[in-house]
Amino acid sequence: RQQRRFNLKHVLITGGCGFIGSNFVRHTLENYPDYKIVNLDKLTYAGNPGNLTGVEKNSNYRFVKGDIADAALVGKIFAEEKIDTVVHFAAESHVDRSITGPAEFVRTNIVGTFTLLEAAREAWLNNAKTGPSKNTCRFLHVSTDEVYGSLGETGAFQETTPYDPRSPYSASKASSDHLVSAYFHTYGLPTLITNCSNNYGPYQFPEKLIPLVINNALQGKALPVYGDGKNVRDWLYVIDHCEAILTVLQKGRIGETYNIGGNSEKQNIEIVNLICDILDEKAGSLPNGEKRRSLITYVKDRAGHDRRYAIDAAKIRTELGWSPSVNFADGMRRTVEWYLDHKAWIASVTDGSYREYYEKMYGEK
Ligand code: NAD
Ligand code: DAU
Repeated sequence: RQQRRFNLKHVLITGGCGFIGSNFVRHTLENYPDYKIVNLDKLTYAGNPGNLTGVEKNSNYRFVKGDIADAALVGKIFAEEKIDTVVHFAAESHVDRSITGPAEFVRTNIVGTFTLLEAAREAWLNNAKTGPSKNTCRFLHVSTDEVYGSLGETGAFQETTPYDPRSPYSASKASSDHLVSAYFHTYGLPTLITNCSNNYGPYQFPEKLIPLVINNALQGKALPVYGDGKNVRDWLYVIDHCEAILTVLQKGRIGETYNIGGNSEKQNIEIVNLICDILDEKAGSLPNGEKRRSLITYVKDRAGHDRRYAIDAAKIRTELGWSPSVNFADGMRRTVEWYLDHKAWIASVTDGSYREYYEKMYGEK
């Protein structure tokens, strides 16, 4: 039986085989030897064990395949592993999929989060004598800036901005945020919520704008830009998000929400142009001699497409001392280079089911 080492945090990561979760697992194991991680992931289309190749060898890591909405399994993990920290990433995360099939978003994002909260309440509050000390426990819920709705030309989301979700995805995330907050106020569960802007970097599934455009541009395929291409997102390099989460976990005040953002607002068309230019430089022009910008194709807009997101990250900066370390130009170069160096990874995640998804989603646009 494993001895409980002094100060060793027993962390349940959910969704650790997805984009941000896998970056978080790697980054934490490499930099924080006092974290023992159990990764609970259902391995949906977005979860890929290949994102964590090599990590299984680490004695501070264990993988469990399963569903966050499976109460018996989640309760067993809490008891067996003496979990005192939860970092909850698992979710259905793609807005377009939430428009064509919202049911899974309700199940995983709302019911799944509820199941985890109940397990934490049981282990940390109801079994206070046998469980870990409540004072050292933390339930960190990873959420999104999309819960705040859509901005006009000016302004930025603050932690006090009223919720106004517009898609089934953001509505399900908003609902889960409210449940987390309710468990703090009602039961005193030691919770933290982070609301972050758009992430980019290695291991992002090519259904999202940046990896989709890189993949298509490499293959000389059309680059689908929704609407007029002028919707704005505030981009953050994924490792900066991971560091922000660790900062909130270690220093955040319980019951609080922290907004996380890159202070890097870009129109979608600027991003697509930039990817084309970096790829032309690194991989040469297309076989027909054309530049990659010639592949840009304006397509039918996303239903209910939020116009602009921007984060005011003053609270996490001034209270906890976190700010992003990777600027957008460097982060994008690094990201494009990573995809160029990992063509086998792209091939492995763009198999038959991805092609079916792509045909269904873009065939009619
Ligand atoms: P992702 O889609 O890449 O990964 C989701 C992971 O969750 C996958 O590994 C999947 O297998 C797993 N999962 C899904 N349903 C599950 C279930 N029922 N039980 C267990 N595991 C399940 O997502 P991501 O982009 O890495 O986002 C992670 C979290 O961060 C999400 O909660 C998302 O809302 C939030 N977020 C994402 C961004 C972004 O830009 N990607 C920005 C802010 C917040
Ligand atoms: O803001 C945080 C959110 O960012 C996260 O909560 C979500 O999980 C994450 O998916 C992301 O949501 P977006 O909808 O902003 O990301 P996506 O990459 O899907 O789209 C980014 C922008 O690019 C958006 O304005 C839609 C547009 N777009 C997207 C795709 C996939 C296109 O123009 N063409 C495309 O093919």
